[in-house]
Amino acid sequence: MDSRTTAGHTTGQDYREVYRRSTEDPEGFWLEAAELIDWHRRPTRALDDSAAPLYRWFPDGELNVCFNALDRHVIHGRADQVALVHDSPVTDSRREYTYAQLLDEVARCAGGLRALGVGKGDTVVIYMPMVPEAVIAMLACARLGAVHSVVFGGFAPAELAVRIEDVAPKVVVSASCGVERTRVIPYKPMLDEAISRSAHTPDHCLILQREQHTAELGERDVDWATLMTPGAVEPAGWTPVAATDPLYVLYTSGTTGRPKGIVRDTGGYAVAMRWSMESLYGIGPGDTWFCASDVGWVVGHSYIVYGPLLTGATTVLYEGKPVGTPNPGAFWRIVEEYGAKALFTAPTAIRAITKEDPEGEHLGRHDLSTLQHLFLAGERLDPDTWRWATDQLGVPVVDNWWQTETGWPIATNPVGIEPLEIRPGSPTVATPGYRIEVLDERGDQVEPGTEGAICLRLPMPPGTLPTLWGDDERYVSSYLSAYPEHYLTGDGGMVDADGYVYVMGRTDDVLNVAGHRLSSGSMEEALAGHPQVAECAVMGVADPLKGQVPRALVVLKDGVELDEAGVDQLVQELVQRVRDEVGAVAALKQVDVVGALPKTRSGKILRKTMRQLADGEDPVVPSTIEDPAVLEALAPVLRRS
Ligand code: COA
Ligand code: AMP
Repeated sequence: MDSRTTAGHTTGQDYREVYRRSTEDPEGFWLEAAELIDWHRRPTRALDDSAAPLYRWFPDGELNVCFNALDRHVIHGRADQVALVHDSPVTDSRREYTYAQLLDEVARCAGGLRALGVGKGDTVVIYMPMVPEAVIAMLACARLGAVHSVVFGGFAPAELAVRIEDVAPKVVVSASCGVERTRVIPYKPMLDEAISRSAHTPDHCLILQREQHTAELGERDVDWATLMTPGAVEPAGWTPVAATDPLYVLYTSGTTGRPKGIVRDTGGYAVAMRWSMESLYGIGPGDTWFCASDVGWVVGHSYIVYGPLLTGATTVLYEGKPVGTPNPGAFWRIVEEYGAKALFTAPTAIRAITKEDPEGEHLGRHDLSTLQHLFLAGERLDPDTWRWATDQLGVPVVDNWWQTETGWPIATNPVGIEPLEIRPGSPTVATPGYRIEVLDERGDQVEPGTEGAICLRLPMPPGTLPTLWGDDERYVSSYLSAYPEHYLTGDGGMVDADGYVYVMGRTDDVLNVAGHRLSSGSMEEALAGHPQVAECAVMGVADPLKGQVPRALVVLKDGVELDEAGVDQLVQELVQRVRDEVGAVAALKQVDVVGALPKTRSGKILRKTMRQLADGEDPVVPSTIEDPAVLEALAPVLRRS
């Protein structure tokens, strides 16, 4: 394998020039960026557009992502540098892995998975809390050329079941429990229930026993510690794969109850990750970086695991919350203790900190002199939160806008290229490689400063989704059909005359609760399963802490009559159903029983109009409404918070 590592520090460049090159000569631009990766077979071409609108990157390249994330750094003098820090206030523990130690663990885990029958192209589901073994399992899959699909630990069995069914894993890797702020959550019963609900049964479950709770193991279960005992299995070497082979599938919520399996390719993603760490975040080899997300989300995949490790940086994996574990100084403690150069989190986490530490007393107790940037993503960054963080930290607070589908920022302030002026409310400008176009209903580009559907002109840059798992047709119909030659982001907003992007929110019924993307459809399915419910609607209403929280309206079946106590009982049961079927993260608390739901003449529930009413806005009622009286009757209920 080639062993060229380019420093790639781009600070001092001109953003406009870099952007121009990325769009006028994508072939040259991305082949040059590809030099940042070690290839088993160096690509001679960047873009393959032969199957447009499905595009592929680096069609003749071959590589292994795990080699690039670990072996390469060990070979080139980083063996003793800390690669991964696990800081876990909820279990009162810390562990550090050097690159050499992490490689050793990953090679043994890969050997173990291979012994369980996992090979190139096979799928593995990883359902784990924020423990190093989650990262080890991800990289072990990459080492074998297997495809991992990480499922967020906060999802309930039903959500896990649909993912297991769709991705059909040979093995599921899980743990005995997760540890939350106030309780220990046994995972194994949820995993067993998910498997029994799914039409697909994995051959084995590899279970990490944690000391907070021991799981009972059954016939198909294998104990992580036994498999990982040195000498138990032959450590696995890395397997070269095509750049276009899938590295992982990550399910994300659409509007229906059926999540979308976002496919991530290997070569394009490796290049985008390595390039973005330095160009967008200013993080290079040897730097320490703290991304406080969860490996179950795209931010965790890209910027806890792959981005920093491909770069040869030190990444902090944090098992705790921004507040309450034990106090709102937790993030600042980590920055100080490990000397983090940047922190990446969601605005909701900063809002939680602000609420408990408005004057920044906890913050003031820490030496944050290493911190150069705070990056925020996952939901809209409100100007108040931006101002608080800017005033308290005295470093640039950088908003970046992206989504699971793209894998890395669509719009950001590219501080590693050229720091641009920050304008609160805007994630700044289009990232090199992305051509953002705001379109009106006819598909025409709107004037600068006018709102419309934010779209990306195809092809999108490397690292973005090539398709949905096993379903090219659904990819095309969900994302590429609304406007020819464009990818539909699902977000509305505008770009001003200076190229600053403003993202106003989803144009569909996807919810964003505390930075967690959730589907109104899966919550509605859970509610509709209640024997007394005829129909229901869930919408995301504004919340000062979580950005949005779900709110549900239910219509009872004919003949069901409930007194006040009966309604209370029903509401409790419905809240519990959503916790059981979707997960506690859904945080549904408010359910109202109503007489009818407002619909269009074609039967579509007017969720957006109801959401606007609940948020205190004055919505324009669609002319297609079937019965305006239904909405009028609901208005007082919706306006009551
Ligand atoms: N496994 C199991 N349960 C989980 C879980 C997980 N991984 N994550 C959350 N939950 C549960 C919580 O225990 C809680 O349960 P409860 O209702 O019984 O108390 C529920 O889901 C809601 O949790 P959470 O969303 O964490 O809300 P909170 O009110 O406890 O905390 C914040 C509020 C703002 C501190 C928290 O939402 C947060 O840290 N948000 C940042 C999220 C983030 O980083 N997102 C990544 C996007 S980049
Ligand atoms: P996810 O796929 O979970 O990352 O969620 C993606 C969605 O979150 C986007 O489509 C947006 O609606 C929202 N989002 C993410 N980052 C931002 C941001 N910086 N500003 C506004 N909305 C954001």
